[in-house]
Amino acid sequence: MKIPASTHFCMQDRELTVDGIALSRIAEQVGTPCYVYSAAAIEEAYRSIDQALSSVPHMVAYAVKANSNLSVLSLLSRLGSGADIVSGGELTRVLAAGFPPSRVAFSGVGKRDAEIEMALEAGIASLHAESEAEIFAIEEIAKAKSKVAPLVLRVNPDVDANTHPYISTGLHSTKFGIELDVARRMLPHLLQSPHLRLVGIACHVGSMVLDPAPIGEATQRIAEFAVECHKAGAKLEILDAGGGWPILYGNEESVAKSHQIFGQSIIEGMRRGGALDLGLSLMVEPGRSIVGDAGVLLTRVLYIKEQAGKRFVVVDGAMTELIRPALYDAYHAVVPVTQPMQDLSRADVVGPVCESADFFAKDRPLPPLQRGDLLAVRGAGAYAAVMASNYNSRPMAPEVLAQAGEFAVVRRRQTMDDVLRNER
Ligand code: LLP
Repeated sequence: MKIPASTHFCMQDRELTVDGIALSRIAEQVGTPCYVYSAAAIEEAYRSIDQALSSVPHMVAYAVKANSNLSVLSLLSRLGSGADIVSGGELTRVLAAGFPPSRVAFSGVGKRDAEIEMALEAGIASLHAESEAEIFAIEEIAKAKSKVAPLVLRVNPDVDANTHPYISTGLHSTKFGIELDVARRMLPHLLQSPHLRLVGIACHVGSMVLDPAPIGEATQRIAEFAVECHKAGAKLEILDAGGGWPILYGNEESVAKSHQIFGQSIIEGMRRGGALDLGLSLMVEPGRSIVGDAGVLLTRVLYIKEQAGKRFVVVDGAMTELIRPALYDAYHAVVPVTQPMQDLSRADVVGPVCESADFFAKDRPLPPLQRGDLLAVRGAGAYAAVMASNYNSRPMAPEVLAQAGEFAVVRRRQTMDDVLRNER
C-alpha cells in the first residue's frame, strides 16, 4: 500500500490523527463525509516554498483555486502570502480574508468585463492577460474608468510539462497564454498606451509537474522576453513562473524533489534568461504544494459488498466530494483510521453516486473493514472541496481546520434548505 509519509497525519495510540487530534473524534462530532485540514501543514509548506526563493526578491502568490476556504485564506494572508485569483468570486474571497490588494494577481483566460472592473476598482497588483482581445478589453475598461491597468502578459512558452493532459497548460496546442510573437507584436502598443502599464511577464506550464526542468525552461523563456521588453523601455516589476509544484500522492515512481530544488531551478532559469539583474520580483503561484497534503477526506464505510469475486467497500463520501479519481484517474491513498494495516486483501473503495467513475481507490490492499469503520482519503487539501458538486442532491460536506491542538468547523455542512434555496 502506497501511503505518502506525513508528520501531520500520523498514527498515534493506534489511531490516525491530525496533529495529535484523533480523526475519529472529529468524525463523531462533525459527521461524515468531511474534509479535515491541518493549519500546521499549510504553514510548513508555505514557509518551505518561501524559503526556497529567499535568495531573490520574490512573492509567493497562493493559487486560491486549490482551496479557497476563508479560514485557509486568512491563515495564508497572515503568513504574508500573496494570492493568485481567477475570478471575481475569488477576488471577493481574498479581500474578505484580509489579503491586501497589493498582493493579489488576477490570472485566467476568460475574465468578464465586470470582473476586470472589480479588479481595477480594488486596485490589485496585476491583471494577467492571456490574449490580444483581452488586453484591448482591459485597456478599454481602464480608459472608461480613467485608470491605468497594471498588466502582466501570460506568455505561452510552448514547453511540455509532462503531466496529465487535462492539467497541462504550457503547450501551443492549449488555450492558455499569449504566443510570444503576438506578445512581441503588441509591445509598442502596450508601451504607449496611457491606460496600460506593462509590469510583468508570466507563464504557467501545468500542474503536478514532477520534474522542475520544464518550469525552469519556461522561466528562462519568459526571462529572455522580459529582457527584450526591458530593452524596449518597459518598466517591469514582476517575473511570474506560475505554479505547478507537485506533492506526492503515494503512487509516484520518482522520489520527491524538494521545494529547494524547484526554487533553484526557477532562479536558474531566470539567470539563464538574463533577467536576474533587472530588479524584478520573482513571483510563483503554487496551489497544490501548499494545501494538497494538508487535508484528508474522512468517510465512513456504509456496506461491504462481495461481487464478481471482488470486495467493494461502499463509503458515504463520493466523487461529489473528491472528483479527481473520476476526472483524471488520480491516485489518492486511502488509510483506515482505526484498523491496523494487516491481513490485507484487495478492495475497491466506491461512493454512493450513480456513476461507475464514482470511486476513490481500485484494487487496493486494505485490512478487513466493516460498516461504520472510518477511512481517510489523503491528498484532499487541494482541488477537492473546491471542485465539489451537489450531484445526486448531495449536500456539500463540511470543512474542518485543526489548529494548535483544537479543531473548528470552518464551513458547515450544507442543509437541504441550502441546496434548494434558489429553486422554485
Ligand atoms: N497558476 C495558474 C495560472 C494555474 O492555472 C494554476 C492551476 C496554478 C497557478 C496552480 O497550480 P498548482 O500549483 O496547484 O499546480 N484540478 C486539477 C488541477 C488544475 C490546476 C489548474 N491550474 C487537479 O485536481 O489536479
